[in-house]
Amino acid sequence: MSTKHKIIIGDSRCMAEVKDESVHLVITSPPYWQIKDYGEKSQIGFNDSYEDYIGKLNQVWSECYRILDPGCRLCVNIGDQFARAITYGRYKIIPIRTEIIKFCESIGFDYMGAVIWQKMTTMNTSGGASVMGSYPYPRNGLIAIDYEFILLFKKLGKTTNNVSRAIKEKSKLTNEEWRKYFTGHWNFAGEKQNGGHIAMFPEELPRRLIKMFSFVGENVLDPFLGSGTTSKMARELSRNSIGYEINKDFLPVIKEKIGRNKKSSLTKDDVLEIVYQRSKNETVLNNKSKTKENNRAILNNRINHPEYWKQLKNANL
Ligand SMILES: C[S@@+](CC[C@H](N)C(=O)[O-])C[C@H]1O[C@@H](n2cnc3c(N)ncnc32)[C@H](O)[C@@H]1O
Repeated sequence: MSTKHKIIIGDSRCMAEVKDESVHLVITSPPYWQIKDYGEKSQIGFNDSYEDYIGKLNQVWSECYRILDPGCRLCVNIGDQFARAITYGRYKIIPIRTEIIKFCESIGFDYMGAVIWQKMTTMNTSGGASVMGSYPYPRNGLIAIDYEFILLFKKLGKTTNNVSRAIKEKSKLTNEEWRKYFTGHWNFAGEKQNGGHIAMFPEELPRRLIKMFSFVGENVLDPFLGSGTTSKMARELSRNSIGYEINKDFLPVIKEKIGRNKKSSLTKDDVLEIVYQRSKNETVLNNKSKTKENNRAILNNRINHPEYWKQLKNANL
């Protein structure tokens, strides 16, 4: 089966290039707050205040909601961040995921829980020790952040994509895959960051999510494409993909990654399209954000209102 892959060099806070309800799965790992510099002025996270950072991510989640087909999933890979003692005067954890869950629920997603991905990450608050805090004495030892989360959200409603029996069969998981994937804990290593990008996730992560939550031939989108891992796995698993990346310097890495795969059932008819987003000025993005703020209040009400839940129940959603 031939597949299509569209790489959009631009800002995923405004995904005007993607039609409403045209995507069947979103998988992403957003930039962290103030940790990594991806070398682009309008990147999210590196030069932002915490409030701006969360606000900009929220614009992306709103766009994800718009472009997702009802009944489909948004999967967000995010870890807890720690505040460095050197900068903040004390060590503490910043649970970014709680902001994401709160906001996504407020715009109409249902939170479906999280997978805990057990891995080792670096956790040097002030310069390199692997045992931290008051070791070997009590009170102030610190928990190693050797895990990340994969938050799962579902857009309410029923999908518009009528999947044929043949496609269902092609997309079927084995017993072993089902048992391994649909557990609360995943154990596999992180990716070595030596491939032209500084924050890649391992292929196993999108591989599992694509198989769990999409059918062959459907459209998978990553609003923070980075080196192109999500698109590569979409192609390998006979799904189409769309990826947004703000820094055009990652394009050679993305092209290499999507094109390089030897093991898959690729056909030479697979299409790779590169699009440069027309510059969106900040005013458009800021206005958009205000409208969303207003909508959020209405949606919040809608989500919490008992009548709304009754309606959902009656509609059997
Ligand atoms: C954590 S990395 C994603 C890595 C990716 N999962 C991979 O395996 O290569 C986040 C990416 O988001 C990009 N980015 C930051 N702000 C963005 C924005 N507003 N729109 C699109 N991409 C953005 C960064 O340049 C970076 O490549």
